[in-house]
Amino acid sequence: MTYLSHPTSLSAAEQFKELHQRVETEFRSRFGHVPAVVAAAPGRVNLIGEHIDYNHGFVLPMAIERYVIIAAAPCSDPSQEHATFYSSDLQETTDIPIRVSFEPTCSGWGRYLEGVIAGFVSGVCDVPAFEAVIGSNVPRGGGLSSSAALEVATATMLEGITDHQLEPLEKAILCQHAEHTFAGMPCGIMDQVSSVFGKPGELMLLDCISQEIQAVPFREEGVSVLITNSNVKHELIGGEYAERRRQCESALEKLGLLSWRDVTLRDLDSARTRLTNDELACGRHVVAEIARTLDAAEAFANGQWASVGELMYSSHESLQKDFRVSCAELDALVRIAREIGFEDGVYGARMTGGGFGGCIVTLVRSDRAKAVRERILTQYENETGVQGSAFTSRPAVGAHLIKRNAHDS
Ligand code: GLA
Repeated sequence: MTYLSHPTSLSAAEQFKELHQRVETEFRSRFGHVPAVVAAAPGRVNLIGEHIDYNHGFVLPMAIERYVIIAAAPCSDPSQEHATFYSSDLQETTDIPIRVSFEPTCSGWGRYLEGVIAGFVSGVCDVPAFEAVIGSNVPRGGGLSSSAALEVATATMLEGITDHQLEPLEKAILCQHAEHTFAGMPCGIMDQVSSVFGKPGELMLLDCISQEIQAVPFREEGVSVLITNSNVKHELIGGEYAERRRQCESALEKLGLLSWRDVTLRDLDSARTRLTNDELACGRHVVAEIARTLDAAEAFANGQWASVGELMYSSHESLQKDFRVSCAELDALVRIAREIGFEDGVYGARMTGGGFGGCIVTLVRSDRAKAVRERILTQYENETGVQGSAFTSRPAVGAHLIKRNAHDS
């Protein structure tokens, strides 16, 4: 993973090429032949609309120029009934059974692969035994959807190996299901959709009810998306995520409504005696964040960067105080960015992803991006003793096959 805190002269395209070459070379040296298929799928950063994909809201993510790449080929031994994956980052091998399965047998990163393979075998088509090498430059555990990128890259590779193409939304849902069932994470659909549908020059305004995407053009070279990793991960995320989800569901049930999109702040206020304090606070975040996301999409489309920035700060405050998924390190990063201020090139900042660590996203003037990054990282380290890391990304292309030689295995 190359961060701007460890300056590199490599462009995003060169980093992609380097990762691709590393994965192919590793494949050839491990398995002694060339891969038949090479697939790539990106991580994502969410600009605004946090914790509302599973609450009937809208989200505004973009795919980032960081990818999981998988090289694979069917295996020559016809008796083999499993897939062999080698992770070139972790330097570990895992064998995944190829069968219909509803329960994980693997642990760790193997669960994501197993879930996608099981989804394919049970609902799409037969999968031959194969061998594969995985490489990634999506930061792991940084709230940038490294697991969704792994799932979507696996599904894309399977499409190549089996010659069976899924509808893009079907692929995202299959991967989300794998995450629910095999990784035990009751996530929404944002991460997998972002990894499948990402397009250069566009943010995706995803309607999480209809699952339709409205493209929001973002080609302004003078404005950049700076992603700063706190490099901390408080291991609360799984349980706390499910807990917030439950609180939102029970609040909605008490309100007697089917969708958060139909709830107003006035409804919440009238119901305050029937809701617990936590349910009320979660509800306040959800209702306000749905409105903020629509406003931000419009402001983005009109190039109103200062308005986008203000909405980002409000979103962070709401996630911090009402939804309670931030942490001291994320709050420090956002505060430092805010203190740098508009005059010095910062439009706005907020935590991004599930929370409890991971990254913040900052909208910056491109000519100030380097200086802003250095100031944030220096002050963050001075205050917390933790070394952060940061990079910029333009909206990136979603999952695709880089290579496919059907007869090359
Ligand atoms: C995680 C989940 C997403 C979404 C975000 C919070 O990334 O996978 O579905 O809920 O958290 O917005």
